[in-house]
Amino acid sequence: MTTKNTFEKKGWTPELMKSQKGKTFVITGTTSGTGFEAARILLSKGAKVVMLNRNSKKSEDTIAELKQKLGNTIDVSYIRMDLAEQASVKAAAEEVLKMYTKIDALILNAAIAQVPKQTFTVDGFESQLGVNHYGNFLLQTLLYPRIAESKGRIVTVGSMGYNLGLRTIQFDDMNWDKNYSPNGVYSQSKLAQIMSIYELQDRLKEAGKTEVKAYACHPGASRTSLIKTSGSLMTRFVWQLMKLSPLVQSAEKGAYPELMCATEVNLDENGFYGPTGYGYFKGPVGECKLEPHAKNKKVAKKLWDLSEKETGVKWNL
Ligand SMILES: NC(=O)c1ccc[n+]([C@@H]2O[C@H](COP(=O)([O-])OP(=O)(O)OC[C@H]3O[C@@H](n4cnc5c(N)ncnc54)[C@H](OP(=O)(O)O)[C@@H]3O)[C@@H](O)[C@H]2O)c1
Repeated sequence: MTTKNTFEKKGWTPELMKSQKGKTFVITGTTSGTGFEAARILLSKGAKVVMLNRNSKKSEDTIAELKQKLGNTIDVSYIRMDLAEQASVKAAAEEVLKMYTKIDALILNAAIAQVPKQTFTVDGFESQLGVNHYGNFLLQTLLYPRIAESKGRIVTVGSMGYNLGLRTIQFDDMNWDKNYSPNGVYSQSKLAQIMSIYELQDRLKEAGKTEVKAYACHPGASRTSLIKTSGSLMTRFVWQLMKLSPLVQSAEKGAYPELMCATEVNLDENGFYGPTGYGYFKGPVGECKLEPHAKNKKVAKKLWDLSEKETGVKWNL
C-alpha cells in the first residue's frame, strides 16, 4: 500500500512525523536554509543527525545553534565534505561508513546555484553539475551499501528548475563550454539529480532491492542563502527583492518535502513532492506534476553510465 497526496488541505507537515528516536539521518548542506531546518526538525523528533558540510567553522556554529535551540542532549555530529572534490566525498563517505552502523535516510540537500561564470570543480567538472549532480551521485553510490543494510532511503532535493532550460542532458558538451548560462546549467544539474533518482528506483526494482526507497522532491521558492552564496551581484539583488514577496515561503516550510520523503511511511516513490500551490512556489506539501522528460529512460540510462564513468565508482546493486 502506498500513499500519494493524502495529506488533505494542509498538506504534509512535521506534525505528521512520529518520534524518530533510534533513526539515523545523514544530511548534506545543513549550515543554512532547508538543510538546517530539516536537521533541526529531525533532532526535535529525537533522531540522530549526521551533517556533511564543507565549512568546519559554520558546522560548529550550526551545532552550537541547534544545541541552544534544542538542548545539549541532541545527537548531532558533522563530518567535513566538499561536494566539489571527489576525494573529499570519498573520505567523508568512508568516515560515515566507519562511524555509523545505520543510515535510515540520506538526504541530498546541498547545492549551489546560478554561478555567474563557467567555473570548474577540482576534478574538472563545470561547478554546478560537479557539485549538485556528480558530487551527490558519488556520495549515494558510496553510502548505498549501508543504506541497503538499513532498508533505508535516499532523498534528492531537486528544483522546479528541472523544467526550465534544455529539459534534457547536453551530452555533447557536459561542461557547457559553448553555451554556458548560470540558469541553464543549474536547471540541467537539478534535472540530472532527479533523473538519477527515478533511474535508481528502476535499478533497485530490477535488483530485487525493493526495501530501499528513493525519492525526489523540491522545496518550492524558499527564503534561504542559495543565491547569496553563489549567484552574481544582479541575481542576488533580484532574489533579495523576491524574498520579500509573498510568493516566497520560509526555509522551514521549504524543508517539509525532504522531511516527508525521508520519514513518511509507504510514500509512493513515483511521485515528485513539493509545495502544490501556484507555480509550485509554496502551499500545502504533496505531489506535484512531473514532466515526462524527467523520466526519459534513454537519457537517464546514458546519464547513469556517464556518471559512473566520471565518478569512477560503480553502484553495487
Ligand atoms: N531556496 C529555494 O528557493 C530553492 C529552490 C529550488 C531548489 N532549491 C534546492 O534546495 C536545496 C537547499 O538549498 P537552500 O535553498 O537551502 O540553499 P542554502 O541556504 O544556500 O543551503 C545550501 C547548503 O549547501 C551547502 N553547500 C554548497 N556547496 C557545497 C559543497 N560544495 N559541498 C558541501 N556542501 C555545500 C551550503 O554550505 P555553505 O554554508 O558552506 O555554503 C549550505 O549548507 C538545494 O538542493 C537547492 O538546489 C532551493
